[in-house]
Amino acid sequence: MAIGTCYFPEHWPPERWATDIERMAEAGIKYVRMGEFAWERIEPERGTFDFEWLDTALSLIDDHGLEAILCTPTATPPKWLVDEYPEIHQRDLNGTVRGFGSRRHYCFNSARYRAETERIVSILAERYADHPAVAGWQTDNEFGCHRTVRCYCDECASAFRTWLRERYDDIDHLNEAWGNAFWSQGYPSFAAIDPPQPTPAEQHPSRTLAYARFSSDSVVEYNKIHTQVLRETNPEWFVTHNFMGHFPTLNAYDVSEALDLVSWDSYPTGFVQDRRDGEATVDELRAGDPDQVGLNHDLYRGALGQPFWVMEQQPGDVNWPPRCPQPAEGAMRLWAHHAAAHGADAVLYFRWRRCLSGQEQYHAGLLKQDGSPDRGYADAAQAAEEFDRLSEFGSVNAPVAVLHDYDSLWALSEQPHSPDFDYWSLVDGFYGAVRSRGVQVDVIDPATSLSDYDVVIAPSLYLMTEELADRLTTYVEDGGELLIGPRSGSKDHHNTLRAEPQPGPLASLVGATVDQHESVPNRMETRVRETETDRSFAYRTWAEWLEPTDAIVRMRYEHGPGADAAAVVEHAAGDGTVTYCGVWPREDLADELVTECLSRGDVAHTDRLPVGVRVGARGDRTWIVNFTSEDYEIDTGGDWLVGDSALEPFGCAVAKHAPIDQLQIELADQ
Ligand code: GAL
Repeated sequence: MAIGTCYFPEHWPPERWATDIERMAEAGIKYVRMGEFAWERIEPERGTFDFEWLDTALSLIDDHGLEAILCTPTATPPKWLVDEYPEIHQRDLNGTVRGFGSRRHYCFNSARYRAETERIVSILAERYADHPAVAGWQTDNEFGCHRTVRCYCDECASAFRTWLRERYDDIDHLNEAWGNAFWSQGYPSFAAIDPPQPTPAEQHPSRTLAYARFSSDSVVEYNKIHTQVLRETNPEWFVTHNFMGHFPTLNAYDVSEALDLVSWDSYPTGFVQDRRDGEATVDELRAGDPDQVGLNHDLYRGALGQPFWVMEQQPGDVNWPPRCPQPAEGAMRLWAHHAAAHGADAVLYFRWRRCLSGQEQYHAGLLKQDGSPDRGYADAAQAAEEFDRLSEFGSVNAPVAVLHDYDSLWALSEQPHSPDFDYWSLVDGFYGAVRSRGVQVDVIDPATSLSDYDVVIAPSLYLMTEELADRLTTYVEDGGELLIGPRSGSKDHHNTLRAEPQPGPLASLVGATVDQHESVPNRMETRVRETETDRSFAYRTWAEWLEPTDAIVRMRYEHGPGADAAAVVEHAAGDGTVTYCGVWPREDLADELVTECLSRGDVAHTDRLPVGVRVGARGDRTWIVNFTSEDYEIDTGGDWLVGDSALEPFGCAVAKHAPIDQLQIELADQ
């Protein structure tokens, strides 16, 4: 487990570089990422190269015993290149060119840009093929950032038609599969199909899902241009890409198949403001939400089923959220430990030093703009020292899987049927319930093998195939505990409604079907009552009236025209049990359903943890992280390796041999 930083030597005079690298070494930094936006510095005009600056920086890194991660510089095609080939530019849905002057202004399907990518990546790879300081490569930078996964240019239109032809073969098959009799939307040929464009009413959902899949696949293919060149040049290098948090338009599982290591970029105080339901609390504005960040750790760890890196870690205040409070004292150290608890092998702070020019002048670095240490520097150094001390890091062994399905995300985003229905928030709710019981989670693609998990949670498998239904059935019959959320089994692969009642091919496993559904605003009464105990629980946004065939009824609606209809059912199948939850559960209901699955699945868990306090086990080490401004007292049977039983605000502690079902965490006496 190591600490690193993202460094831009090209932004600073060469005389400063030695001081920078020395300071990094003093802070215990091991990895330095460079070069992701440097194409123009490397090749100021076609065919003229300047490698001296990068050579010098790499030598200094090597001299100090650090290692470099180089990036392919394709996120910022230089001006001379886009002037030479303007067709490289992306176009938005309205056909407007996404022009030069920021970054990510290229189209993933541009044949010219693909050729230029192969050229620059090959030149860089060959130059550094034998360099002892280069440990690995990052492809590009944050594919799709600034809403750029989907481009609507002519080359994309033509690539989309080819993509469709490969999948549907005959235009009649496509018209049939999409149900194009609706509103006279049949196509006479593949050549007649365009990417989605501005339309008077909403778009055809099968067409938009196809475009979402096609666009994501385009990035998958584009990424492979990089990985192939890098692998062929030096098979010893690892190749990674830095994904983003709660990122909606790119299937990270598909991109990861071509990578050796998955990494992502974590900005906790920004994420609670711009990609989450509800207003952030004051504590969250200071340190973020551990479950929101944790879900991404677990998703990217789940992508290849191995340790991941945080390639960019927030170093202090940042420039892009609506508001930019200073993080809490110690938050930058807390985030590094939190990543470690979820299985990270490295955390690199973005960026080394606050820059003087360009768009990110309001973004902190580990150093201030004058080169003196900023708030994050001491935190980073402390984390590095503590990781050194911990020395051994086992692996995360998650007993629970949460199924995360990009197809369902894309299809639900097109037809949410309520302004409040956001796929990520629904997943967050179920995930948070497991994490609030101290249990480690893998967030995985539904196509992944389920047999190693004691409990599987599917927040919504909106699109359902017979094959997936069979796999889930086998999982349960073999003794698995499965919890399925609302809207599952509604649609087929092409995003058309199934003729049989929901949950479609899951109906016999679930032992119930859906009679009616409704989406409800928060001001309506939304409660269900447990049949056995009469306890009442709140839900939100979505409700399905269930008709049990073989299942037993766990919860019934309390209000409205569906009063007394079944809302949650449970069905024993083979050696396991499936619970179908027809509502979007609020925290207490999610906790109730999840905890019951954990108990039935024999998964060791904690009492319900305080909001903002989380634990994570890795090998024989247990981390306790505190994302709140409260003091807590921890009681554990283990030995303290970092910190102790007094858990400070925004602090963390690590214990050895501390079984999570014996952990007690309580507010400290005031
Ligand atoms: C990331 C990006 C970095 C930098 C950072 C600012 O999304 O990869 O280049 O812009 O955000 O927080």
